[in-house]
Amino acid sequence: MTRIQSEPFTTDDAGIPVESDEHSLTIGPDGPILLQDHYLIEQMAQFNRERVPERQPHAKGSGAFGRFEVTGDVSAYTKAAVFQPGTTTDVLIRFSTVAGERGSPDTWRDPRGFAVKFYTTEGNYDMVGNNTPVFFVRDPLKFQHFIRSQKRRADNNLRDHDMQWDFWTLSPESAHQVTWLMGDRGIPRTWRHMNGYSSHTYLWVNEKGRKFWVKYHFKTDQGIEFFTQHEADQMAAADTDYHMRDLFEAIKRGDHPSWTLQMQIMPFDDAKTYRFNPFDLTKVWPHGDYPLVEVGRMTLDRNPADFHTEIEQAAFEPSNLVPGIGPSPDKMLLGRLFSYPDAHRYRIGPNYKQLPVNAPRSPVHSYSKDGPMRYQNVSDPVYAPNSKGGPRADTERYGEPAGWYADGEMVRTAYTLREQDDDWGQAGTLVRDVLDDAARDRLVDNIVGHLLNGVSEPVLQRAFEYWRNVDKPLGERVEKGVRGKQGEKDPKAAEQANPARTSMQRKA
Ligand code: NDP
Ligand code: HEM
Repeated sequence: MTRIQSEPFTTDDAGIPVESDEHSLTIGPDGPILLQDHYLIEQMAQFNRERVPERQPHAKGSGAFGRFEVTGDVSAYTKAAVFQPGTTTDVLIRFSTVAGERGSPDTWRDPRGFAVKFYTTEGNYDMVGNNTPVFFVRDPLKFQHFIRSQKRRADNNLRDHDMQWDFWTLSPESAHQVTWLMGDRGIPRTWRHMNGYSSHTYLWVNEKGRKFWVKYHFKTDQGIEFFTQHEADQMAAADTDYHMRDLFEAIKRGDHPSWTLQMQIMPFDDAKTYRFNPFDLTKVWPHGDYPLVEVGRMTLDRNPADFHTEIEQAAFEPSNLVPGIGPSPDKMLLGRLFSYPDAHRYRIGPNYKQLPVNAPRSPVHSYSKDGPMRYQNVSDPVYAPNSKGGPRADTERYGEPAGWYADGEMVRTAYTLREQDDDWGQAGTLVRDVLDDAARDRLVDNIVGHLLNGVSEPVLQRAFEYWRNVDKPLGERVEKGVRGKQGEKDPKAAEQANPARTSMQRKA
């Protein structure tokens, strides 16, 4: 091939020009390969180490860069630099599914991750949310078990609806999130057409030290759109990476998606007497009680240039909270504060925060040192306190923790029950008051189809009871739907329950 003068020439990783892109070093054209061909060895060895472990949950996903512009004025509620009027901050977002592996279809029914990293002037702030306002469990001890029930069995390595419903029906606190998941929003048409929610309650603190409880709602400016189960099954076969491709192509053609951030803000003292525990992650705060207050707009306008370095190695952590923002007593959130940095140290390595995508844009003066792959120099003194001019905590400015008062006996109980703390109420409201008849019909079809896909007794019986507890007529329709289809031995009925799989199996 003729060489164009301006083209770069290949080097190895040490910058040494290589002799060939195509041939290894051998003794004569027909002879053995030589161990001294360090370029061949570098290629093979590097290749074997190309993958970092995939994220345990949320393995499949992608993301983009953009900016967050403050359009409202919430300075009365938080002193966080990122939310002060007129501020613009660079952001990274990663969208994901939860249960599938890195190559799994984007259109499986599953919650979607909505993880935002704000590169603020006071360090990185990560809002690691989902496209749903609630979650399946309220105690972090159950999270691992929940995720295992959604992933693969030990024996045949298959996903198993029986295992999923076994867990759900034995965990009634899951009802609100499962109702949401089985509804239309359980399969967004694209990542651009879904909302993002913090789900958790956080604490905001203003300049005067006044505190407020808040929830984040990122409302899509593209409008909500969803796939029916049938459309999603077809898309899973046609384009496994549909959501990833859609976002990349939209940004590439200049169609930049945006979301408006609105907050629910609860005065600090309301939490003590609110009719249910406002920190319980399985519940929303009704809009009627806490209306939405506009903060600003997030726009995505830049695709990653290298998926691995900028998305796969991106590390989001709910513990990245900046001055003016703190955690709440939500036990799930408190559990997550430990879990994510621990996952990153294992998945990426202990110095993951030095990678450009994770590094803050504000200066770092920490006392961390050494460890594999560290490349930023550390200077003396390496300890505090010291009298040698090392960094000193500014306790006057930042010394007050964003926290709350707590006391009590040591117990294993997720929250003291209040008047309206039940597992079914808000799920029932969603079914009866939010969904229209057509959406309710689709909900029934989705649940029936899911249950017919390998759920056996006694789990099935518990599932009917579960749905009757959410909404009696809904439970009855689900039971009738499942029993009716079980009764019909007609292969067409089975195909309706799972059209994609059954027709594929017939073809096979
Ligand atoms: P509202 O009537 O004020 O809010 C209902 C909300 O439901 C809408 O604002 C919309 O959220 C959301 N919604 C609409 N269609 C669907 C759907 N197919 N699947 C899931 N959510 C949908 O009533 P309340 O605030 O009193 O809440 C009533 C119920 O609505 C709750 O029990 C909860 O299930 C659900 N909901 C409430 C949210 C909240 O934060 N209060 C948020 C989302 C759902 P959005 O405007 O965010 O798109
Ligand atoms: C990813 C743990 C609950 C949203 C992860 C990861 C872990 C984890 C270990 C993988 C991190 C990585 O390897 O990079 C937990 C635990 C939870 C919990 C222990 C509860 C105790 C939640 C909740 C939400 C959520 C309630 C949403 C409100 C996400 C998102 C990601 C994620 C969006 C993907 C982040 C990314 O894109 O890199 N979680 N999780 N998780 N989790 Fe959770």
